[in-house]
Amino acid sequence: MDSIVAQIHALAESADEGDRLQIQIALRKTLSELQSPKDVVVDLMNSTLLCAMIRVGVDIGLFRTLAENDKPFELAKLAEATGATPELLERIARYLASNNTIKEVGINEYQASNITHIFSSDLGEGMVNHGFNTHGPVIQALPDFLAANKYQDITSNTNTPFQVAHSTKLQSFDWMVQNPEHFASLQKVMTALKGAEWTVGLDTLDIEAKKVASTPPQPSEKPFFVDVGGGHGHQCIQLGKKYPNLLGRLVLQDLPVAVNKLSPIEGVRTEAYDFFEKQPISGSCYYPQESSTPSSNIEPIGAKFYYLRRIMHDWPDKEAVKILLNVTGAMAPDSRILIDEIVMPDIGAHWEATMQDLAMMNMCAGKERSKQQWLDLADRAGLRVEKIHTYVPSTYTSVLVLALK
Ligand SMILES: C[S@@+](CC[C@H](N)C(=O)[O-])C[C@H]1O[C@@H](n2cnc3c(N)ncnc32)[C@H](O)[C@@H]1O
Repeated sequence: MDSIVAQIHALAESADEGDRLQIQIALRKTLSELQSPKDVVVDLMNSTLLCAMIRVGVDIGLFRTLAENDKPFELAKLAEATGATPELLERIARYLASNNTIKEVGINEYQASNITHIFSSDLGEGMVNHGFNTHGPVIQALPDFLAANKYQDITSNTNTPFQVAHSTKLQSFDWMVQNPEHFASLQKVMTALKGAEWTVGLDTLDIEAKKVASTPPQPSEKPFFVDVGGGHGHQCIQLGKKYPNLLGRLVLQDLPVAVNKLSPIEGVRTEAYDFFEKQPISGSCYYPQESSTPSSNIEPIGAKFYYLRRIMHDWPDKEAVKILLNVTGAMAPDSRILIDEIVMPDIGAHWEATMQDLAMMNMCAGKERSKQQWLDLADRAGLRVEKIHTYVPSTYTSVLVLALK
């Protein structure tokens, strides 16, 4: 057994992201084949408790305490640091250790594991808060909601388990805007999921980015990249790191609550914008930070790229078409929309994609779309899908390049 485990570790160390995910799929499948009926039900019971106990670990700073000092901690010291009584903490810690989220290294002695570091990071903490506080109650509400609605597909974003769970009539983003701690957790998760992998092998972007001069942009220069609904600007930052010549030519747009208090980001123009309104970036990109509108004597020309990551899947088709139409209205003939999302395969979807699909349905009547659904959506917004660049093959995460028809 030990040598098999060692072989799996060796395989994973040299694997790229796609292969690493394939190894996990194989291991999960093997586990499900080995489990007895009792194992399956006990595992299920444990999975709901584990979510709650991980949140407790975050709340009392257990993961942070262990991760900040990567050395063994006696229970008494941990109790002092977390404020929990030693009696309670002993039960919590041994449970979390038995679930590999912390390491038990001696009697009543604990140390950080690789998972501890995740739950002490912004991604982990944000995900626990978003997953448990915002989405958790929605998951609880789902079965009764589906039964009450006679198992119809969820297509209205003001009639989802979200409204039941949070006792509101508002759609989820409007509700989060009014409940800033929930909005902040979402932004933490999104920022932590930053990355530039989507640009690798995407010639459409690379060729154009390399044509851009390294000199500062001219006032009349056409904007290069607009991140629509870009949260806190993490994707603009990543792109600017890869192509420093684009700095000063990047625009971040999101709701006022997301961007109004953001510290300035070097080389990125930040703009409060509601994507259900007319897209304002159809003129000059580069205007001074203190000015909120582009100079009016400049010919309106669309940005080269409008980038929408994890936006479309938050919305039902009707709203998704509206968002696209607002971009379409601002595009020049050579502008392109880049949608960074999953293209759901017709068979063999990864569990992460199917989970995300249902999560979007629960929260906002959104969905992960198949190739045909993307083609239809683009068509309804006067667009054609020029290219689909799949950059994480196992989850089918892709950039769809859309052009005016
Ligand atoms: C799932 S997050 C994705 C954030 C970012 N694009 C990313 O991939 O990291 C959805 C984003 O859409 C923004 N958003 C929601 N409704 C919006 C609206 N009406 N106008 C502009 N942005 C909106 C949210 O504030 C949030 O930043």
